[in-house]
Amino acid sequence: MLATDIGIQGSDLLTLHDLSAQAILDLLSLSAQLEGVKDTPLQGQTIGLLFRKPSTRTRVSFEVAALELGAHSIYMTEDQTQLSRGETVADTARVLSRYLQALVVRTGAHSEIEEFAAAAGIPVVNALTDRFHPCQVLADLKTVLEAKGTLAGLEVAWVGDGNNMLQEWIVAAAKLGIGLRAACPVGCDPDPKVMSLPIVAAHPPTILRSPLDAVRGADVVITDTWVSMGQRDSEQKRKAFEGFTVNEALMSKADSDAIFLHCLPAHRGEEVTDGVLDGPQSVVFDEAENRLHVQKAVLFAILGD
Ligand code: CP
Ligand code: NVA
Repeated sequence: MLATDIGIQGSDLLTLHDLSAQAILDLLSLSAQLEGVKDTPLQGQTIGLLFRKPSTRTRVSFEVAALELGAHSIYMTEDQTQLSRGETVADTARVLSRYLQALVVRTGAHSEIEEFAAAAGIPVVNALTDRFHPCQVLADLKTVLEAKGTLAGLEVAWVGDGNNMLQEWIVAAAKLGIGLRAACPVGCDPDPKVMSLPIVAAHPPTILRSPLDAVRGADVVITDTWVSMGQRDSEQKRKAFEGFTVNEALMSKADSDAIFLHCLPAHRGEEVTDGVLDGPQSVVFDEAENRLHVQKAVLFAILGD
């Protein structure tokens, strides 16, 4: 498959909402094709990684993805740049665009990555914002496809916060015809801005309060941290999550062939037990590995040919 076949050359990737269903499926095929391939289609290109929040998987998998495609990468944290002294997002984006071929950004407010994208003269890729995490959900989709052989028609259960991961899954499920039931505590529902996107309004997830109702018979069970980076941790929030731990008893209510996903890092003993995370249904380390393969596909599709 050529980069031009995907149709996103030179484009930003701020959320999977930016892509057609076909482009998402093509990226998954391309990622399988690029798995293990070390070549130099992006030789001479430099990719900037600008992270305002910590990262293990996203940072390392993007750096290795760039390397395996023959590109160079530069990792920058907020405090290593003049952003820390008040240089504006727009000026930073304009300057970096004079040196780099793409900019991968991890930040808080989604409006900030939109600001980067608007000012940059190069493609901007979302490495996580408070609203969306497209590269992680691409890896999730690849992992589900590998385990189940299909995506459309599956029943996915989310147990946890209505956060960036759930919101990206809501968009992906609506685009790809995946059934999504999300159990979120009161006060932790997904953002109404995401729920009111036309594609989501046309194919809405079912929002529930009971983890058991969400998980019953599901093909895939997913959770994530109760307190995302940048969110305020509180006793009140933790109380709201009582009964939301994905444990062996809850997992046993899913389909007997169900798989368990978690984007990691996990808070063992909080949102998930060791027994589930390390158990036979868990595919979390394949999911983590798939970050590398999908990021190669994303970089190649945006910058290749
Ligand atoms: N899942 C994920 O994005 O992990 P990192 O925060 O380690 O990048
Ligand atoms: N929802 C989590 C995902 C971490 C990869 C967070 O934003 O912290």
